[in-house]
Amino acid sequence: MLPAMRDQKMGGIIDQGFDTVTLLERKKMAMFSESTRREFLVQLGGLGVILSQPQLVFGQQPLPTRMIPGTDESLPVIGLGSSKPVLEIPTEGTEPVAAVIRMLLEHGGRLVDTSPRTPDIDAEFGRVLAEPDIRDGIFLATKINTPSEETGIQQLEQTERLFGRRTIDLVQVESLRGLQSHWPRLQEMKDSGAARYIGVTVSSYRNFDRLEAFMRTGSPDFVHVNYSVIETRAEERILPLAQDLGMGVIINRPFMNGTYFGQVSDRELPPWAADFDCESWAQFSLKYILAHPAITCVLTETTNPEHMEENIQAGFGRVPDQTTKQRMRDVFSG
Ligand SMILES: NC(=O)c1ccc[n+]([C@@H]2O[C@H](COP(=O)([O-])OP(=O)(O)OC[C@H]3O[C@@H](n4cnc5c(N)ncnc54)[C@H](OP(=O)(O)O)[C@@H]3O)[C@@H](O)[C@H]2O)c1
Repeated sequence: MLPAMRDQKMGGIIDQGFDTVTLLERKKMAMFSESTRREFLVQLGGLGVILSQPQLVFGQQPLPTRMIPGTDESLPVIGLGSSKPVLEIPTEGTEPVAAVIRMLLEHGGRLVDTSPRTPDIDAEFGRVLAEPDIRDGIFLATKINTPSEETGIQQLEQTERLFGRRTIDLVQVESLRGLQSHWPRLQEMKDSGAARYIGVTVSSYRNFDRLEAFMRTGSPDFVHVNYSVIETRAEERILPLAQDLGMGVIINRPFMNGTYFGQVSDRELPPWAADFDCESWAQFSLKYILAHPAITCVLTETTNPEHMEENIQAGFGRVPDQTTKQRMRDVFSG
């Protein structure tokens, strides 16, 4: 723990992530400028300090950001997982996905995660992504989601063509599928500037061992992993390892693809959730996730701009400390 920070008053909400400060972060701490101070404190889970600054209020300030490790770039802490609204384009049109992206942008969010779909769907979605108010505002993450090397290349070509981008912010190998054949291609993309960052995704515990092994050998810029107040296993090894190795972390399944809401539908939100500025069950899981200092950005998937706004709100205010996180897990272990 950094002594100067240990002494600071954190409003009773202290993230034990301070105990996992890495050497890299200590170096950054020595170097950081006042302008990046807030981002750094957020990265360390020091939101209790930030809260004492009245300007960090939902609706008046853009989403807090966290640094992408090893870079001077930061990302807002809440992003959009676009699968559901994009897959619904054939029946619902493009308005729902455009509306949730605009809600994200309006609050200073940037990360939009997607996967290749049919050429028809991607052509429609590409038109949304080309809208002048969307085009330059988003940080676009996409994936290869096939084991076949040849089909993977076709997917990347389709993405570049239909999304109208020569450079994709983040290209990922989805669920580690075809990783050995795709990874050299992704590295080439990064070298040539066609991808700014490259990474891998998993969304199930069964891929955690392979993910961990790849993190040690493959040096991805980002890992993208399932984690929530119910699916907590990433905090055992994956998240600490990402911190040690200086990798960005994107979280999927904050609501277990919606099944989480089935588990809480007949329960009252505990009154102590207010102690960390949590007003809903959606924010309960998101705050649990954001309390971990390894996390760069949490994706929440939604077709509903009001849900997007509620989820964005979780990016503001205090986060739970370790004792409170245990209490949060206990809510679901009975
Ligand atoms: N292997 C992989 O790479 C992988 C796997 C899974 C997911 N992902 C990524 O992660 C993203 C997130 O997907 P997920 O499966 O993890 O979904 P999720 O965010 O855990 O859950 C989405 C579900 O929650 C509902 N929801 C969202 N906000 C809500 C709120 N405030 N109140 C009530 N309901 C709410 C949505 O319904 P509404 O539409 O009604 O809001 C939707 O049914 C995906 O889009 C994708 O980008 C990647």
